Order: sequence, then structure tokens, then C-alpha cells
Amino acid sequence: MRALLAAPASPWGTIEGVTDQPATPTELRTARLLLRPPRPEDADAYFEIASDPEFAHFGSRQTIDREATGRALARIIAMPWEQRPEFAIVLEGQVVGRVMLDVDRLNRIAALGYGIGRPWWERGLATEAARAALDYAFEALGVAKVWARADPRNVGSVRVLEKLGMQREGLLRGHLFFRGERVDRVYYGLLREEWEAAR
Ligand SMILES: CC(C)(COP(=O)(O)OP(=O)(O)OC[C@H]1O[C@@H](n2cnc3c(N)ncnc32)[C@H](O)[C@@H]1OP(=O)(O)O)[C@@H](O)C(=O)NCCC(=O)NCCS
Repeated sequence: MRALLAAPASPWGTIEGVTDQPATPTELRTARLLLRPPRPEDADAYFEIASDPEFAHFGSRQTIDREATGRALARIIAMPWEQRPEFAIVLEGQVVGRVMLDVDRLNRIAALGYGIGRPWWERGLATEAARAALDYAFEALGVAKVWARADPRNVGSVRVLEKLGMQREGLLRGHLFFRGERVDRVYYGLLREEWEAAR
């Protein structure tokens, strides 16, 4: 209950998993980045980022298509913000990636996802953007836990989760069928009290 009271801005009010008020799309700022709700015109940047074979290596089941990217982005924009907030990651005026939360309202947990375009890798941008989204999930959405999953071979992604202070919770072996092979997934999580203690 203390955790709930510590999150007065929660769009759900104070009755766990019952009340459900809309949240407003929001911009976040970090030292280097603007995180803003995506716009339809971001489809080209999303496509350029996602169609890079190195970017898609661990994450994409099908060929990336420009029109499909636009349709997917339109669906994301149309979703209720409190259910699936997504931020385009903007560096010096350019969209360089995206970070999103998939919120399970009943259980008050959120799944974290992110991607940075190949030209901007290993500059700390995913960590910086994901940390801001993580803080947003706890502060503004009032969730009790944020979790994420990755291909354990995706060293960069696993490292981002570790740098965020998330705990490795388990390995699901042969969990997905992906490009003709069974692949593992490693799960990470951060509880609200761990996030508070680390602040
Ligand atoms: C995974 C990804 C988001 C990392 O983005 P990034 O901006 O390069 O990450 P950061 O710069 O914040 O790096 C965080 C740490 O991971 C390390 N790292 C990042 N990419 C790495 C790589 N390919 N190999 C080894 N280490 C890597 C960085 O060196 C850094 O570690 P350090 O601070 O200990 O030196 C990016 O590679 C990406 O978008 N990949 C494709 C999509 C994807 O896999 N998304 C995640 C799905 S779960």
C-alpha cells in the first residue's frame, strides 16, 4: 500500500487494478535526448532503423516493409497512452530509436522495450532512454514492476537491462520459434521497492 501512496500521479487512482483513468501523452527529456510521442511522419525513420539487418538480427520475424511500418506506427499512436506509451528517441533533432512500455493494468506491471538505430549504437543512448522510460513507468504510471526479455545472445540488450539495475529472473529455453530455430529468452525485472532504493 505504501508503494501505491508513493505514486499519487498514477492514472489508476488508488484502488489497485480497478480504477482506470486515461493518461496524457508526455514528452521526457534526458541529458542528451528528447523522448516524445511518435508521429505518423516518423514512419520513415522507424523504417530506416528497423530495416537494417544488424538491427533486425535478434528482433524481427518478417521482412520490414515501409508501408507496414507506417500501419504499425498508426496503430501504436491510436492506442490508449496508459496502455502502451511509446517514445520516439530524438537526438539533435533526429529520430534515432524508440522506447516503449506495454502496460498490464490489472497486475500493474509494464514490459519495457527499446531499439536504437545501428549508426548510434554503443553511445549509451539505449541505456539513457530506457532509464527515462523506466522512471516514467514507476513515477507517472505507478506500476509495481517493470520487466523485459531479450535473446540472451543479444549482448547489448542484456547489458542495457543490467545497467538499469534490473535483476535476471530466469531463462526460458527454446521458448520461441524464430527464423527456423528454437531460441531462448532471458527475463529481467525491477520491483518498485528496488527502483526506490536505488534512487
Ligand atoms: C540493444 C541496443 C538497444 C543497445 O543500444 P545501445 O544504444 O548501443 O546501448 P548502450 O550504448 O546504452 O550500451 C549499453 C551497454 O551495452 C554495451 N553494448 C551495446 N551494444 C553492444 C554490442 N553489440 N556488443 C557488446 N556490447 C554492447 C555497451 O558497450 C554498454 O556497456 P558498458 O556501458 O558496460 O560499456 C541496440 O543494439 C539495438 O537497438 N539493437 C537492435 C534492437 C534490439 O535488439 N532491441 C532490444 C530487444 S530486447
